[in-house]
Amino acid sequence: MTIGKVYLVGAGPGDPGLLTIKAKGILELSDVVIYDALVSDAILVSINPLAEKINVGKRRGNHSLLQSEITDLLIAKAKEHAIVTRLKGGDPFVFGRGGEEMADLVAAGVSVDVVPGVTAGIAVPAYAGIPVTHRDYGSSVVFVTGHEAAGKYRPKVNWRSLAQAAETMVIYMGIYNLPFIVAELLTAGLEGDTPIALIRNGTRPDQAELISTLAEVVAQAQAIEFAPPAIAIVGRVVDFKHDCMC
Ligand SMILES: C[S@@+](CC[C@H](N)C(=O)[O-])C[C@H]1O[C@@H](n2cnc3c(N)ncnc32)[C@H](O)[C@@H]1O
Repeated sequence: MTIGKVYLVGAGPGDPGLLTIKAKGILELSDVVIYDALVSDAILVSINPLAEKINVGKRRGNHSLLQSEITDLLIAKAKEHAIVTRLKGGDPFVFGRGGEEMADLVAAGVSVDVVPGVTAGIAVPAYAGIPVTHRDYGSSVVFVTGHEAAGKYRPKVNWRSLAQAAETMVIYMGIYNLPFIVAELLTAGLEGDTPIALIRNGTRPDQAELISTLAEVVAQAQAIEFAPPAIAIVGRVVDFKHDCMC
């Protein structure tokens, strides 16, 4: 039996100005906040100073808590406290495992509310001057994870179909698999001069960008050791940045 409610809250991509008013209000009232690695320090200062703060941050190859352990922790805290917040980078339901956590909590009899956040796939390109759609540059957009393909016999993401399906491709978690992804997109028929932008730590003071082409991006990213967390944007919308001198 739980007395509390778990709020599944999106923190946005980093800039505290992108935290929603609803999310800020919940953070200020929370008894416990359980948060991920990608939640910025500038957001953490909004948390009720009396709240218990628990970092369950996961970074590639360094899982500090298993998903099941996080769920168990949330259930345990909801038995003791009224307002338990699960704070996630961006939006909880966009490549954030929010759906999985919600299902587990509901199955355990815990009441859950979701507070959507500003997802990195829209805000990060926007801060770099790249609109993910524009009538003259790209009328369709797909959001996809680049994390799926490495080493799998049968990749879940069908890059070759996606390359033909949408004019703009926004790739989360794609830096490690970039050589594979780029090779798939070229095999699918995208031209070597198709623009691509890599943006790390978008909306934060240390935002870093690499603007390139499919033909050159892998070598350029390796040369400067471009590291995650980053979003990749593929398509002519990337040219908008140059054309409007944003
Ligand atoms: C596990 S996913 C979580 C996505 C998040 N739920 C969202 O809606 O933005 C983590 C990935 O999101 C992207 N990401 C999140 N914040 C970012 C930022 N500030 N700058 C660039 N990419 C970011 C990166 O691709 C990172 O590897």
